[in-house]
Amino acid sequence: MKLSIIGTGYVGLVTGTCFAQAGHNVICVDNDPNKVKLLKSGGMPIYEPGLDELVRINVKAGRLHFTHDTKEGVDNSDVVFIAVPTPPNADGSVDLSFIEGVSREIAAAMTSYKIVVDKSTVPVKTGEKVAETIKRYCKAKVDVDVVSNPEFLREGFAVEDFMKPDRVVIGVASERPVAAMREIYAPYNAPIIVTDINSAELIKHAANSFLALKISYINAISVICEMSGANVQDVANGMGMDIRIGRKFLDASLGFGGSCFPKDLSAFITISQELGYNFGLLKEVQRINSEQMDRFVKKISETLWVLKGKKIGVLGLAFKQNTDDVRMSPALELCQRLQKEGAQLRVYDPQAMEKAKTILKEATYVSDMNDVAEGCDALVIATELPQFKKLDLERARKALTHPIMFDGRNLFDAKEMEHLGFIYKSIGRR
Ligand code: UDX
Repeated sequence: MKLSIIGTGYVGLVTGTCFAQAGHNVICVDNDPNKVKLLKSGGMPIYEPGLDELVRINVKAGRLHFTHDTKEGVDNSDVVFIAVPTPPNADGSVDLSFIEGVSREIAAAMTSYKIVVDKSTVPVKTGEKVAETIKRYCKAKVDVDVVSNPEFLREGFAVEDFMKPDRVVIGVASERPVAAMREIYAPYNAPIIVTDINSAELIKHAANSFLALKISYINAISVICEMSGANVQDVANGMGMDIRIGRKFLDASLGFGGSCFPKDLSAFITISQELGYNFGLLKEVQRINSEQMDRFVKKISETLWVLKGKKIGVLGLAFKQNTDDVRMSPALELCQRLQKEGAQLRVYDPQAMEKAKTILKEATYVSDMNDVAEGCDALVIATELPQFKKLDLERARKALTHPIMFDGRNLFDAKEMEHLGFIYKSIGRR
């Protein structure tokens, strides 16, 4: 099918590229001419495993094009996807001005019937507004069907998630756009659930808030474990073997972050409030998450006593593994809090150092994870990167002035670390 994607960020670029890979003809539109120029010249604006190769293959095959002209995208497609940012306002509500602006641009460009699909994460009832706006601003007075088709992509695994989705959610106001939507997603062999537009929009916020809740739940359990001498990993394993609960998203940590969970939680709390419901449960999820960071910082300062002048090595800056994204990164927040206490930092991350440098200016950036501990008073694991498990522990122990490690992601076995001579402090384990 002929598709256009408006917005070439994480979601838009992955979506457009993966649609092209499935054989569709795709035009990606972005209003940033520099980004379009970069993509046209074979460059990549983001790091996402496997994406650069897929872009190359599909551009070469003539199925993937880039432009900064919305009209060109709309004219050359039957289905127009919206994948623009929906950033938070200062009060936690969602700024929908990009969605509104793009809806007007699409309306102005339309000269024939189109299906307009919203992929951006939006408050329930946004689809109704998009449809209203397009109808109001479309001079050609042609028909439109608005569809809600939320994305569930994890950063770092976005291509994999797109190609093998657990489910595809299609929210519609009538049967008319359903066949085309099914055809677009047919190559992925995924279960498709067709709902009304409001339900599809709610599925996204409800799912992300539930996942955040799961993490805060295990983080709260980790506090009880520390107080009682139990082991949170054993508790999570025991809970997770109940298939009604499942083991995923039960890894205790120094808290969740990223561009989705914190933003979506705040948005969902505000949306619920506006609809007349006080979603106190989700406010607790936020409270537990911020307390988890406070507790970890306290653990470090209680052990090292005065942080002023202490040298601390930090492994991990991204908000999670497999990404260069440092937006709302717990690792970066931790670094900033340690710096505020006067600590000097030596930091390493395999992908995120360039992006971190613009925010965390006063740190020493080290190019090999095994050099980070050199001359430090303690080493901290802040991001769950599997490669940190391969750290040369013997070398780290010798390089530290005192062999102290704080593990905010429970990557190592506590007994083994003690056996190796470390003072090892992790989350929810003694
Ligand atoms: C999330 C959702 O998973 C995805 O479906 C949605 O579309 C966008 O938001 P993402 O933000 O990329 O994806 O990351 P995810 O892998 O879900 O992790 C989010 C945060 O939770 C990270 O900071 C991660 O470290 C943390 N986390 C995750 C935990 O602390 N413990 C866990 O068990 C799992």
